[in-house]
Amino acid sequence: MKPKVLVNVAMSADGKIALSDRTEVKISGEEDFERVHKLRNRVDAILVGIGTVLADDPKLTVKEKYVEEASHPLKVVLDSEGRTPEDAQLFDKGEWLIATTKEVEREGWIRCGERDRVDLDILMEELSERGVEELLVEGGGEVISSFFEEGLVDEFSVFVGSLVIGGKDAPTPVDGEGAEDLEDTVNLKFCSYEEMDDGILLRYEVDSG
Ligand SMILES: NC(=O)c1ccc[n+]([C@@H]2O[C@H](COP(=O)([O-])OP(=O)(O)OC[C@H]3O[C@@H](n4cnc5c(N)ncnc54)[C@H](OP(=O)(O)O)[C@@H]3O)[C@@H](O)[C@H]2O)c1
Repeated sequence: MKPKVLVNVAMSADGKIALSDRTEVKISGEEDFERVHKLRNRVDAILVGIGTVLADDPKLTVKEKYVEEASHPLKVVLDSEGRTPEDAQLFDKGEWLIATTKEVEREGWIRCGERDRVDLDILMEELSERGVEELLVEGGGEVISSFFEEGLVDEFSVFVGSLVIGGKDAPTPVDGEGAEDLEDTVNLKFCSYEEMDDGILLRYEVDSG
């Protein structure tokens, strides 16, 4: 069975997740950070794309101050060409897995298909075999778009921060090609909203019916 996929992202009030040059922006605050770290602590794996690794160099760890006991979920990167820098912070602590499309014989690297991008069905199978039941996808827009396109998303949470970033090239929560017609759009079932920090958290389930 494929892992349950939770997508979590923070965007500005005008729907951007970073600056046009892809520099990271602080969109939420302490309350939301605590929520995200608790969420990370609950899941079995956290996934980002190489675009996020190169832009933000995230640690993808659980900060001890936000949880009673930090678990260390597997960190997964979609990186077809093997561009993850050797000194990326995600290598510093805990287990990691780089999913690529190249032939690799390096510990911690796996080949998922031979096409230009990582085959998500193969990756889901691999993660499932490794005992991953819940997978948190944190971005960026290209990766989240692929998960939606492949019909793999179960839950979508978006924190809307009180700022405007602007810029037609600034990344958004779901980039990629986008829907070509109404039938291609993804229907969501609204679940809840919650005020936190100076913004609002919206939670949806993907309407598969
Ligand atoms: N506000 C937030 O919550 C948040 C969270 C995370 C990131 N961000 C922002 O998002 C931006 C990065 O997003 P991004 O869209 O540029 O990059 P991304 O989604 O992190 O990574 C996209 C890259 O992943 C690789 N990839 C491999 N297999 C893939 C597949 N099946 N589907 C999609 N991508 C695949 C591709 O590069 P290769 O072909 O080279 O493998 C692709 O270009 C940064 O500005 C970062 O700050 C914001």
